[in-house]
Formats: sequence, C-alpha cells, structure tokens
Amino acid sequence: MKQLAWVGLLVSTSLWAAEREAVYQKEIMPILEKSCLDCHGRDGKKPKGGFNATTLAGLEKGGKEEGPGITWGEVEKSSLYRLAHLGATNRADEMAMPPKDKKQPALTNEQLAKLKAWIENK
Ligand code: HEC
Repeated sequence: MKQLAWVGLLVSTSLWAAEREAVYQKEIMPILEKSCLDCHGRDGKKPKGGFNATTLAGLEKGGKEEGPGITWGEVEKSSLYRLAHLGATNRADEMAMPPKDKKQPALTNEQLAKLKAWIENK
C-alpha cells in the first residue's frame, strides 16, 4: 500500500507540473510578453534587475534583489506577482512594474487574478 501511495504522489506531482506548464504557455506568457519582456530578456540583452522572464525557470528564480520570482503557493513571496501587483495598484511606487513612466501596460485586474491563481495553484 505504501508503494501505491508513492506512485499516486508521483503521478499527481507530475500532473500538477504539466498543468502549471500548460497554463504558463497559454495564459501567463502572453501577459508577460506584452507588459514585461521588453526589459526582461526577450531581446537577448542582459535582463533588467537580473530577472529573465522569458522562461518558467527564469520566472521561478527571480532577479538579483527581490527574492524568488515565484514561490509556489505564496504570492507574497513571489516577486513576479508582488511587483506586477504594485504596478497595477500603485504606479508611483519606485518598484512598480512596469516602471511608471514606461510605455508598457500595467496588468489589468483580470490578468493579476490569473497570475495569482496560477501561482497559488487554484
Ligand atoms: C521598461 C522596462 C521594464 C519593464 C517593461 C518591466 N520591468 Fe521589471 N525591471 C526593470 C528595471 C529597470 C528593473 C531593476 C529595478 C531596480 O533594480 O531598481 C526591474 C526589476 C524587476 C524585478 C526585480 C528583480 C530583482 O532585483 O530581484 C522584477 C521581479 C520585475 N522587474 C518584474 C517585472 C514584471 C513582472 C514586469 C511586467 C509586469 C516588468 N518587470 C516590466 C524594467 C522593466
């Protein structure tokens, strides 16, 4: 029985990873493409703040100063979410993303909700 439980755990863990990846491709990447990637890795130049947002691994890792980009299950410990949320709710903050005087659009409430649900695995 114990072995079966392990198999179950493995299967559900990999299903979860697959689901995460699928939502990333379909829903999250298009949002980041519009609002973030101009400065975070798309052009192959050094990404701002050391944060490469073009891959899932880069998103998880985060940048130089603000901690992990994604801590699964915890938006407050996910700089990707934290700074995008600031960007949408407090444009004047110096850490707001995208930065306040730039042309890229801040995330909409709907996009923020998607990002949150994805990180929280809901
Ligand atoms: C116009 C350029 C630009 C755009 C667009 C932009 N950023 Fe940034 N981002 C920066 C710069 C510059 C920094 C470095 C800020 C600093 O160190 O003061 C930064 C830093 C960051 C960091 C912190 C990295 C660290 O030090 O740990 C995160 C996270 C981040 N951005 C996320 C985003 C997200 C999410 C978006 C899209 C919603 C976005 N950025 C859009 C320019 C941009």
